[in-house]
Amino acid sequence: MNVVILAAGMGKRMQSALPKVLHPLAGKPLLQHVIDTARELAPSKLCVIYGHGGAAVPEMVKLQNNGEHATIDTALQEPQLGTGHAVMQAAPQLDDNAPTLILYGDVPLTTSASLRRLVEAAGSDKLAILTVEQANPFGLGRIVREGGNIVRIVEEKDASEAERAIREINSGIIVAPTRQLKEWLGSLSNNNAQGEYYLTDIVAKAVADGVPVVSAHPSAEWEVAGVNSKVQLAELERRHQLNKANVLLEQGVTLMDPARIDIRGTLVCGRDVTIDVGCVFEGRVELADGVTVGAHNVIVNASIAAGAQIKPFCHIEGAKVGPKSMIGPYARLRPGADLAEDVHIGNFVEVKNSTIAAHSKANHLSYVGDATVGSRVNIGAGTITCNYDGVNKYRTVIEDDAFIGSDSQLVAPVTVGKGATLGAGTTLTKDAPAGKLTISRARQMTIDAWQRPVKIKK
Ligand code: UD1
Ligand code: CA
Repeated sequence: MNVVILAAGMGKRMQSALPKVLHPLAGKPLLQHVIDTARELAPSKLCVIYGHGGAAVPEMVKLQNNGEHATIDTALQEPQLGTGHAVMQAAPQLDDNAPTLILYGDVPLTTSASLRRLVEAAGSDKLAILTVEQANPFGLGRIVREGGNIVRIVEEKDASEAERAIREINSGIIVAPTRQLKEWLGSLSNNNAQGEYYLTDIVAKAVADGVPVVSAHPSAEWEVAGVNSKVQLAELERRHQLNKANVLLEQGVTLMDPARIDIRGTLVCGRDVTIDVGCVFEGRVELADGVTVGAHNVIVNASIAAGAQIKPFCHIEGAKVGPKSMIGPYARLRPGADLAEDVHIGNFVEVKNSTIAAHSKANHLSYVGDATVGSRVNIGAGTITCNYDGVNKYRTVIEDDAFIGSDSQLVAPVTVGKGATLGAGTTLTKDAPAGKLTISRARQMTIDAWQRPVKIKK
């Protein structure tokens, strides 16, 4: 099968310098949604028609060509003389022996199941249109039927009053036999209210040629909803998020409010996972059995192991959280944070590029960067690994059972030996031997004769 994606329109109502089809929905460009859905149908040819926005669209398409799927071609439509004219730009690239499916780059949520139904309805020799009954069909092309059969499509601006009363609309998504499609496109005229070459005029031509015209229907109206403005983009974003939330609910995930979750990527959940409101998941995130995620967490490309608890207001990116660990509130796990079982990371603690072994804790106000931390280590409040001299990064090693007193600075490279204790306020510049107390702190003294200055009243 051939697939043509129309993406040349300028999208003026988006009020943006970015071409419309590159605006993100769930963190992914609209056009990317359409390409991904098209690829589920394994087309032999896929061609994107672009126009407005210069090289941005073909550049984005080029990134898709990584060898895993059939290469996507692009064709420039300049000037933009209508949807029929747009499809014509792809004609030289289409294989006559397979039907052609036409999609819109600004209609992101069509499901591959609906497209399969349409393709099946078309077979190899019919014209098939994805149509919907709409309560408010204003602005859209109407499906004109005679004796139940589709005979043509009429655009809002060209329609009679009687035709405007028709509620069955053209989604724009069409499958046509390719050889005839090319002939029909070649004979289009722009003799209509908008002076455009309408793709929709091929319907009357098919009827005239005795080619059967059939229809199929999506399972919901939002599948064929297009994006012309930020309002419509926001509406489809919520629709898409609600769809994702419903899939999670069906799988048994507890969402405190399915209307308040944002998944911009893939969220994989085990059994008995609970997610509170206001969380954002990006990239690939895995939440294993029994994980709870508190309110307002941002979790990006991370895996959270079974039974771990993420308390509210954490930012977790590129990190691994071990089983039964407790994170937050207000913790930050940066790329390379790799926590084992039952690790506690508390409020205002930042962990970067560090492994922390089982049962260790850093509960308050610390920075752990480029460190290897053993098991059962206690990192006191205010501890800082000084990992950076302005040019180079160095590692800190803290061995099993060490106890780091509060407000210590570990000036890397440095090692705290097994079972060592650092006194509070230590600035460690040399290794601390195992099993001993190391402390660097000016001796405390008391001045007996000292008197506080007093204010003299005038
Ligand atoms: C089109 C259909 C209409 C249908 C509606 C569904 C025609 C004549 N009309 O109307 O029956 O109900 O879609 O939304 O086909 N595009 C190009 N090049 C062009 C013109 C458009 O690439 O020269 C692209 C746009 O970027 C967009 C799509 O085609 O993705 C549809 O264009 P749009 O102007 O929105 O079509 P409508 O006139 O609204
Ligand atoms: Ca439109």
